[in-house]
Amino acid sequence: MIIAIDGPGASGKGTLARRLAAAFDLAYLDTGLIYRAVAAKVLEAGAIPTDAEAACAAARALAFADLARPGLRQENIGQAASIIAAIPSVRAALLDLQRRFAAHPPEGKKGAILDGRDIGTVVCPQADIKLFVSASPEARAGRRHKELLDRGEPSIYARVVQEMEARDARDSARDAAPLKSAPGAFVLDTSEMDADAAFEAAKRIVSAYRPPSPAHGPQGEG
Ligand code: DC
Repeated sequence: MIIAIDGPGASGKGTLARRLAAAFDLAYLDTGLIYRAVAAKVLEAGAIPTDAEAACAAARALAFADLARPGLRQENIGQAASIIAAIPSVRAALLDLQRRFAAHPPEGKKGAILDGRDIGTVVCPQADIKLFVSASPEARAGRRHKELLDRGEPSIYARVVQEMEARDARDSARDAAPLKSAPGAFVLDTSEMDADAAFEAAKRIVSAYRPPSPAHGPQGEG
């Protein structure tokens, strides 16, 4: 089983994906971390995030072990990741890695959950279940602000709103695989939900899923 979860930052999709993966014994890949790891490599090499050549080289050299690097969740890495993610050659270089994870989940798992911005639309358009997790900008900014404070990082709410708007605009307006709900995706608005409520709602969707029977496909009709 492949579950594709897309949505903007701080929509709650990461927590949801992790909990669903544990509940249904599926492998989990946070694809945002992939773009963040590429961004970290580019910055470390002294290049700027708009340098397509440097970003593409970093993307091609990326290994799964790079996703465990500390510091990838920092806001400056997130902004750089968002800039790098708009470069088509970078996205192309990262596609195979993500699709391989979905097709051959590690640790003998019988399926995978991938979350990101283009999983249902580009990476796994054939996913069994697609979820688009959204929340109002206010709810998301409030969550991100709290998350930063909880991590002991300084945070100014107005600045969080500003950075979130910039990232949303970039991720949604780019030509290459922009953030959008995939056809057939279940839309989950978590503005008024806590993590438990979002998990329960998603769990109901996944539990109700039945693979299409071959007899009901186009070949089997009549
Ligand atoms: O989900 P995140 O905040 O960790 O993602 C960081 C950036 O990476 C995000 O602003 C856009 C980009 N990204 C992407 O373009 N496609 C994905 N599938 C995942 C993330």
